Amino acid sequence: MASHRPRSLGLLLACLSFLSTAVHAINFTISNGQIFTPGFAIVDAPQPGTPLGGDFLQVAIDVTADGRLPLPVNLATGSPSLIHNITMFLYSYDTKRNFTISNGTAAGNGAALGPIMLQEITSTVKHVNWVWPDCLVGNGQPIALDSARGVYNISIRQNFRLNGVDHYTIFDLPISVTNEISTNTSSSVGNEDGSRPSCASLENPLLAPDQINVTAADTVGVLFAPGDATQVQVQSSGTDPTGDGLGPSKPTANAGDGLGSAGVRAVMPSSAAALLVGIAVALLSL
Ligand SMILES: *[C@@H]1O[C@H](CO)[C@@H](O)[C@H](O)[C@H]1NC(C)=O
Ligand SMILES: *[C@@H]1O[C@H](CO)[C@@H](O)[C@H](O)[C@H]1NC(C)=O
Ligand SMILES: *[C@@H]1O[C@H](CO)[C@@H](O)[C@H](O)[C@H]1NC(C)=O
Ligand SMILES: *[C@@H]1O[C@H](CO)[C@@H](O)[C@H](O)[C@H]1NC(C)=O
Ligand SMILES: *[C@@H]1O[C@H](CO)[C@@H](O)[C@H](O)[C@H]1NC(C)=O
Ligand SMILES: *[C@@H]1O[C@H](CO)[C@@H](O)[C@H](O)[C@H]1NC(C)=O
Ligand SMILES: *[C@@H]1O[C@H](CO)[C@@H](O)[C@H](O)[C@H]1NC(C)=O
Repeated sequence: MASHRPRSLGLLLACLSFLSTAVHAINFTISNGQIFTPGFAIVDAPQPGTPLGGDFLQVAIDVTADGRLPLPVNLATGSPSLIHNITMFLYSYDTKRNFTISNGTAAGNGAALGPIMLQEITSTVKHVNWVWPDCLVGNGQPIALDSARGVYNISIRQNFRLNGVDHYTIFDLPISVTNEISTNTSSSVGNEDGSRPSCASLENPLLAPDQINVTAADTVGVLFAPGDATQVQVQSSGTDPTGDGLGPSKPTANAGDGLGSAGVRAVMPSSAAALLVGIAVALLSL
């Protein structure tokens, strides 16, 4: 009997954490520790609600929807599916702060990061390492009422095109800035003297929810979770100019045919269509 206690305790904790999620009325689609978003990005870390601290805020995102979208270097600029850019902010309606993690322009002495899609160019996972700015220094829960420490969202904004349609989506991942953040960093990550960038150099106006309209932005819904049948049409920038992955190059195909390496349905030159029908018939008669 005694051996069952740890399990029921675990169950109780699971229920409590479910309740606390329910209270905030936000649902996350998580599978094997990966958090799916309304876009190609999949968050590998951190998990929602994690207490964070240390030298930097670290965020790991897969920008290929687990391999379903090639990296930018392998895509034609006119590809029907691609990521234009990804920006990130750290904001809180509790502390009334809104900091730039990356707005696409490295600013404030490198305190704000450069374009996320351009870092680790050959890597499908982008590791965002953002040095905590000075007003977040501390240890534990905030005590002073005006403390900048507390609960935040990592706001991940994706500008992307999916099958010819452009989207700008907003995905807010809650975390709490409650672990220790020391005054000085190890000097290799902060300013040269090891001090932290100022919060002022990273601050943006905080907009009200109705000025942002997340619901309207995210009508595309969470994408690419297990069981999601969304097909991704792409045009590759590879050596095969047709890049459709359906077979040998077809001289009659052109960029406008929009054939993707995922082998999606698309307008096809009739000769190629006839070839495919031929293959299908041959298979059926086996
Ligand atoms: C969360 O999921 C539950 C169960 O599917 C649903 O009833 C609820 O409306 C969802 N809440 C939000 C905010 O989407
Ligand atoms: C985090 O984002 C959610 C959804 O956008 C929002 O309802 C909530 O108020 C935000 N939390 C904080 C601390 O700002
Ligand atoms: C992101 O891409 C969109 C669409 O192409 C563009 O309008 C916007 O200026 C870009 N933003 C950044 C920060 O690069
Ligand atoms: C932080 O670094 C500055 C500049 O090097 C130094 O003056 C200060 O004593 C350091 N503070 C701590 C707490 O180590
Ligand atoms: C990007 O963020 C930095 C730091 O907050 C700011 O100085 C800069 O003006 C921002 N750039 C754009 C284009 O928003
Ligand atoms: C934070 O600032 C950025 C840049 O100005 C803005 O795009 C974003 O909507 C702001 N977020 C909030 C919650 O105000
Ligand atoms: C949000 O956007 C939708 C669709 O564009 C619109 O119907 C709705 O009124 C907007 N909500 C707010 C609060 O602006």
